Amino acid sequence: MSIEPICYLNGKWLPLSQATVSVLDRGFIFGDGVYEVIPVDTLQIDGQQVRAPFRAAAHFARLARSLSAVRMADPFSPAQWNDLLAQLMARNPWARQTIYMQVTRGVAKRDHVFPTGVAPTVFAMAHEWPPIARESVEQGVPVVTHADERWLHCDIKSTSLLGNVLMKQYAVEHGASETLLLRDGLLTEGSSSNVLIVKNGVIVTPAPSHLMLPGITYDATLAVARECGAPVQLRSITEAELRSADEIWLSSSGREVMPVTQLDGVKVGGGVPGPVFKQMLSGFEQAKLKDARAWMAQRAAQAHPTSGPE
Ligand code: PDD
Repeated sequence: MSIEPICYLNGKWLPLSQATVSVLDRGFIFGDGVYEVIPVDTLQIDGQQVRAPFRAAAHFARLARSLSAVRMADPFSPAQWNDLLAQLMARNPWARQTIYMQVTRGVAKRDHVFPTGVAPTVFAMAHEWPPIARESVEQGVPVVTHADERWLHCDIKSTSLLGNVLMKQYAVEHGASETLLLRDGLLTEGSSSNVLIVKNGVIVTPAPSHLMLPGITYDATLAVARECGAPVQLRSITEAELRSADEIWLSSSGREVMPVTQLDGVKVGGGVPGPVFKQMLSGFEQAKLKDARAWMAQRAAQAHPTSGPE
């Protein structure tokens, strides 16, 4: 029996199938909104099962940046976003969840110009997040390449995702798991992931710019790499470098770090996940544990606030 997710819409909690918005919502009409996807996992910590989001604060900081970039007021403080996240987790049963949060510019008569005096539409839902396929991690996934034809503000996590949707569909129709995007001969990112490569033991990935989303998983992966002492370079990657990489990885909230073993039908490195990836994977698990401990401590501190100095 499948369980109906409970979602949040403009101050109300309700079953997902009962949540509705006006057809005049600017998110529906214009894709005029921004969003976040936050992964929640259950980890074993000191013999206890702890369910925690990964890097929630970073997701809320990016949401604030996206809102500001599209000139929308942030409807909540970081603490309120955090509470919303905690409530959503509590109201939905799954050990592993993906939390989706979206803010649109609200409901108004169709007009490109920003409406005035209109409240934003705030929506959040949780879904079950199935375990990442072991086969994908152990054998790697195939990807294809395509010209990056999206707009020039890919750093904004906007709900206007048509360019990304078309590129993900391109991957599926070409028997691949992701499409890597090339703009003017340089790698930008995947249709729904960031991309890192390894060449001669050095991890190389594009530096954050307006041409890619600054991924939370990308940041976490780079932090792990640095902690492991692996050399990291943030710089442009040419198509030729991509094609001669020893390893290619995708990073995203839904897939964490995933090895790519085929690029446009050609084997990447030895055609199996490389040694740097394997090192990365165990470091990433440690990073998740560390983050879950911090979340637990933060929630405990909020539940039992200690009194400040007299
Ligand atoms: N997408 N680049 C793009 C274009 C993305 O859509 C995503 C994630 C990423 C990785 O970002 P992060 O590590 O913060 O998840 C990079 C999400 C998961 C989505 O749209 O469903």
